[in-house]
Amino acid sequence: MSVLILHTSNASRKRHFARARLHGERLLLIVKNPTWETEFVDRVVAADTSSIEDTVAAALELAASETEKIDAVVAFVEHSVPAAAAVAAALGVPFVSEKTAHIARNKFEMRTEFARHGDVPGPGFGLAHTLDEARKLATDIGYPLVMKPLIGGGSMYVRRVDDETELDEHFELIRSGSWDGFDYDPLYRADREKYGAALLLEGYIQGDEISVESIVRDGVTHVVAIHDKPLPMEGPFFEEVFYCTPTRLAPELQARIKELTANAHDALNIHTGATHTEFRITADGEPVILETAARLGGGPIYRSVLTSTGVDMVDAVLDVSLGRTPNLDPPAPVRPTGFFMFFAEKAGVITSISGVEEVRASEGVVEVELYKNIGDAVQVPPHIWQAHGHVVFTVDDAADLDARFAELRDMLRIDVAPEQ
Ligand SMILES: Nc1ncnc2c1ncn2[C@@H]1O[C@H](COP(=O)(O)OP(=O)(O)O)[C@@H](O)[C@H]1O
Ligand SMILES: [Mg+2]
Repeated sequence: MSVLILHTSNASRKRHFARARLHGERLLLIVKNPTWETEFVDRVVAADTSSIEDTVAAALELAASETEKIDAVVAFVEHSVPAAAAVAAALGVPFVSEKTAHIARNKFEMRTEFARHGDVPGPGFGLAHTLDEARKLATDIGYPLVMKPLIGGGSMYVRRVDDETELDEHFELIRSGSWDGFDYDPLYRADREKYGAALLLEGYIQGDEISVESIVRDGVTHVVAIHDKPLPMEGPFFEEVFYCTPTRLAPELQARIKELTANAHDALNIHTGATHTEFRITADGEPVILETAARLGGGPIYRSVLTSTGVDMVDAVLDVSLGRTPNLDPPAPVRPTGFFMFFAEKAGVITSISGVEEVRASEGVVEVELYKNIGDAVQVPPHIWQAHGHVVFTVDDAADLDARFAELRDMLRIDVAPEQ
């Protein structure tokens, strides 16, 4: 059997490819600039993946030149989901529809569908093309609020503003960055035309944040893991640093989160594949949705879920795509697991990276990935959508997760010199 992977370069997905390699199918890959990915697949085609049409054309040409038919299409990264949906439709293999793929990538359309559903609680929201529109909308929604790109990712250009003075100060920079920062995105041109370079404004949801990893099969949602994000994330920017699982939330709340995750899938018509859904839990215990992505959780989430629950979500998504029954109930007991992203201390060129081997050799550390090397120029949040590396670790007692995170984080250091 053959599986076609649609990919956009992303250093945090090595483990996904390595696992897919072991799954047993012939692997075909379409990516713009193939690098390390080639070692994990049987055949690579370079195509301009910032264009869905070019990607579909490349996929059809590839399919015609293969002796075996392509049985499944998968995408591990957000940017490849719309193209994967278009390619799957062209090849007649299971995936979410092109419409769903688009809605799950456009935060305004996603909020609109959640609101239409009726039981996917969300904040007030709306579009603003100009500062005047933003001021009016802000009086309806109420401060504090969050400004964000329609087609963003990785918290880039997501900013909290607390009052009109802050809105006036930051609106234009965030609005222009929200489009100019994503011009490589396959949805960029069409959505910019459709929405006239508008910005999304949402009511700020005060509360603890969680992420929910699911597999959907024949329209049925199986929540595999819930991660807490114990560090305060109150803005103005929202870089994601530390996650851990199992969740500390009460069982009734977990049940409600599972129900709302299934509702979110219904609202977006996600009936197959993996999803990554984020919520905040308000002080009165109400989950409010942030977003759902029609793909596996990013980077370290894969290994964290595998370590904590024994469920291999790359296997599961391949199984579901190929029409097989995934193993979602392994006998392994749940292990307390955490992971964190790390960044350079400031923007510049990396001059040294220390502590990596020390962390790798530390008790309970299951994965250390470094996405950058000495000599690479790096940015820091909020200007980037990806950290410079990650660590996944496990402990015997869940009560030790936060302290262990702090210890491991303090061992790592990326020094930079100002860029010339
Ligand atoms: N309405 C909101 N209220 C509170 N925090 C928010 C809100 N929207 C976004 N955030 C914060 O910003 C982060 C990124 O926003 P999100 O909508 O998930 O976009 P993306 O992850 O695609 O960049 C969230 O994880 C959350 O911490
Ligand atoms: Mg998000």
